[in-house]
Amino acid sequence: MMPLAAKTPPLPRPDRLARAAADTALMAEIRAGLAKPQKELPSRLLYDELGTALFEALTLLPEYGLTRADQRLLEQQAGAIARLLPERVLVTELGSGSGRKTRPLLAAVSRRAPVNYFPIDVSAAALDRCRRELLAEPEQAADSRGIHIVGLEGTYLEKLREAVRRRQPGEAVLVLFLGSTIGNFDRGAAKIFLWRIRSLLRRGDFLLLGADLEKPAAQLLAAYADALGITAAFNLNLLRHLNRDFGGNFALESFRHQARYNAPARRIEMHLVAQIPLHCRAAGLEIELAAGETIWTESSHKFTPAGLRRMAAASGFRPVAEWRDAEWPFCEALWRAEAQS
Ligand code: AVI
Repeated sequence: MMPLAAKTPPLPRPDRLARAAADTALMAEIRAGLAKPQKELPSRLLYDELGTALFEALTLLPEYGLTRADQRLLEQQAGAIARLLPERVLVTELGSGSGRKTRPLLAAVSRRAPVNYFPIDVSAAALDRCRRELLAEPEQAADSRGIHIVGLEGTYLEKLREAVRRRQPGEAVLVLFLGSTIGNFDRGAAKIFLWRIRSLLRRGDFLLLGADLEKPAAQLLAAYADALGITAAFNLNLLRHLNRDFGGNFALESFRHQARYNAPARRIEMHLVAQIPLHCRAAGLEIELAAGETIWTESSHKFTPAGLRRMAAASGFRPVAEWRDAEWPFCEALWRAEAQS
C-alpha cells in the first residue's frame, strides 16, 4: 500500500501558507477558549474526517429532524424558488452540503438556462463527495445536464468573492446557505457574516437561507442528546481531534456529553462535562478542571420567522418568500440583496 503522503500531491505554496495560517489561528482560538472562566473549544474542531462521518450519521437519527426538513423543503419548493429567480443565475453554496439536498433546486434552475454551480468548502473531500453525488447516479444524471460544477476549496467569504467574480454578463448570483449552519454562529457574528455576504453581492442577487426554528425544549434536547449516543460520540470526538492535532492529552472516558437548552439565548449548547478533577494539556496550555466543570463546544441557535426577517433587513436584504416544513419547524427564506445602508 502506498503511504498517504505519496498519494496526496503537495499543496501549492499559497495554499500551504493559508493552511498554516489557519492552523495558527485555530491554535490561538483554542488557547483563548480554554483560558476563559467558562472553558470553550471552537466547534470547527468537531469536523475532522471521523467527526464529519458522525455528523452525517446523526442527520439520520429519528430524533434529529433538521436535515430532513431542509431536504424536504428544497425538494417540495425547488420549482417555486426557481420561479422567483431571474432566468440566468450563478449558484454558489457555502459549505458544499450534500448533492442530494441541492440537486432538486439546481435541476429546477437549470431547466430554464444552463447553470454554473460553485460549491465552497474547506474540505477537498467534501467537494469531491458533493460532485459525485450530483453527477453519479444515472437517473439523476439527466437532471445534471446543464449544470456545470466547479468546487472552490477555501473559506466561505474568500471563495464567495471568487465565485461572484466569475459571473457572466447578465447573470444574477444565488448564494445558498442551508442546513441552519447560521445557527452555529453567535447571534452578533451571524449578523456580521450576513452583512459581509451582502457586501460581496450586487443589488438584485439572492440568498437562500435555511434556518432551524424554535421548538419545545424537550424536542431539542432529544435531538441533541439522542438515545444511540451518536451526538455524544460526535462531541467527544472533538477531544480526540484536539489530542491528535493540537498536542492535547484529554482522557475521553473522563468526559460526558451534555446538551443544554439555554432559554434566554434560544439555543442548544453542547458541553463536555469532566467526571472527575482533571489536569490536562492542549495547545501548549496546562488546564485544571474541577469535577462537574464543562467545556462548551457548540451553540445551535434557533430562530423565529419574524426574527429572520429582521436579520434580513439589518444586513441589506429584503425577504422575498419563506417556506416552512410541516413536520419539523424549519424555514427556507429567500432574500434579495437591496441597498446596504
Ligand atoms: C451543522 N449544524 C447546523 C448542526 C446543528 O444542529 O447545529 C450541528 C449539530 N450539532 C449537534 N447535532 C448537529
